[in-house]
Amino acid sequence: MNVQIRRLAENDLPEVGELSRQLGYPIPQEKLKKQFDDLKNHVEHFMAVAEVSDATAKRVAGFIHANKYLDLIEPHTVQIIALVVDENTRSLGLGAKLVRAVEEWTPSMNVKEIWVRSNIKRERAHEFYKRLGYPIVKTSHKFSKFV
Ligand SMILES: CC(C)(COP(=O)(O)OP(=O)(O)OC[C@H]1O[C@@H](n2cnc3c(N)ncnc32)[C@H](O)[C@@H]1OP(=O)(O)O)[C@@H](O)C(=O)NCCC(=O)NCCS
Repeated sequence: MNVQIRRLAENDLPEVGELSRQLGYPIPQEKLKKQFDDLKNHVEHFMAVAEVSDATAKRVAGFIHANKYLDLIEPHTVQIIALVVDENTRSLGLGAKLVRAVEEWTPSMNVKEIWVRSNIKRERAHEFYKRLGYPIVKTSHKFSKFV
């Protein structure tokens, strides 16, 4: 199996939609396309896929989305907003490769720190991040309101 990490393209969106469903965020294709269009020219957003292929076929088996997070009083950082690998292709190193791609992109943003929020229920993901050198540095609540 060959693995290529490359930037997300519009024709990946059907597979990204399925991966998003696996992540727990189902999204209709039209909405995904609109949000992709909103984001695709923002240089401070990084969207990449893991494409796996063999002699006969290729498919998208994971994606990551990160962005430069601007702050007034703390140094700017990069946050990983979304990461998912297809449930049939886990534990093959694709997740680590996608995180590595963000790490390689981050210096171009003039930033030194990358962080990710992960739901307290995602215990296996926590082990994944710790193994990649991301210890837990804070536990917090999220508050939200629709206006
Ligand atoms: C977390 C995730 C992206 C890791 O991707 P991956 O390609 O399996 O990662 P790697 O192969 O590089 O590393 C595998 C390690 O990740 C961890 N892991 C986390 N969730 C896992 C899962 N559901 N299945 C297998 N391994 C998982 C394990 O520590 C695993 O190590 P092991 O193979 O020795 O058991 C992937 O499991 C996933 O998409 N999980 C569901 C969505 C999620 O939790 N995303 C993170 C949101 S913050």
